[in-house]
Amino acid sequence: MNQNNLNITSQSPIGVFDSGLGGLSIWKELHALLPNERTIYLADSKNAPYGEKSKQEIIEFSIKNTEYLIAKGCKIIVVACNTATTNAIKVLRENYDVPFIGIEPAIKSAALQSKTHKIGVLATKGTLSSELFISTSSQFRDSQDFIEVVGKGLVQLIEEGRINETEELLSNYLSPMLKADVDNIVLGCSHYPFLIPIIKKLIPEHINIIDSGIAVAKQTKNILDQHGLLANQPKTTENYFYTNANLLVLKQFLTQIEITEGNVLFEEF
Ligand code: DGL
Repeated sequence: MNQNNLNITSQSPIGVFDSGLGGLSIWKELHALLPNERTIYLADSKNAPYGEKSKQEIIEFSIKNTEYLIAKGCKIIVVACNTATTNAIKVLRENYDVPFIGIEPAIKSAALQSKTHKIGVLATKGTLSSELFISTSSQFRDSQDFIEVVGKGLVQLIEEGRINETEELLSNYLSPMLKADVDNIVLGCSHYPFLIPIIKKLIPEHINIIDSGIAVAKQTKNILDQHGLLANQPKTTENYFYTNANLLVLKQFLTQIEITEGNVLFEEF
């Protein structure tokens, strides 16, 4: 299974994958922090949502995406998906030498900031039921109450470019959190930062919304630096965005979220 590419240099691209469009929220933070880096983004929208799939299926999709990015010469892989990270990153790290950066619900950061010690966590079923999330959150359960809610249906709406139709679902999902007097809401799915403007309309101003995008970008920079792999010359090629589903939806979404550079392509993977 191990397919490590020996021709990696600091000019090699950063690989990023997600079940679809959500990881673009992470891509934006990566690009803001590391503008000289070449990137290859995979939107595995054909298989979205991962959050409703079995652990084994999520591992298989993650392996497929990883092998594709390694074949394209990526020097590091950012698993820009909480569901894939919490279910598959261990297997990926065991089988490939390329460094992996994952994304997990930022419950530690929420626990450090919370005064009510009631924290809302909105994430997929796959993330909330994962061993990694259960063991990480158990370290805080003595001092914090987590109000965990599965955001069923939200990813599909975002994937279909129907962000404006998420308000009713969000209102239902946020309601138990508001009733419990949370003061922090953790967005445990990389698709959800695109919903922040709608979430803000539904919650009181004092509630903090936490996502992990900036932390992932910083961690990617640190790990590249540790491996001597930070791009040291201005980049010579563009960023690439691949989808294995609807090219038009990806193009429209990129415009909507103001990503205006890069090659947007359909490919089977
Ligand atoms: N964006 C992903 C996450 O961070 C996956 C959502 C899904 O495909 O269900 O969990």
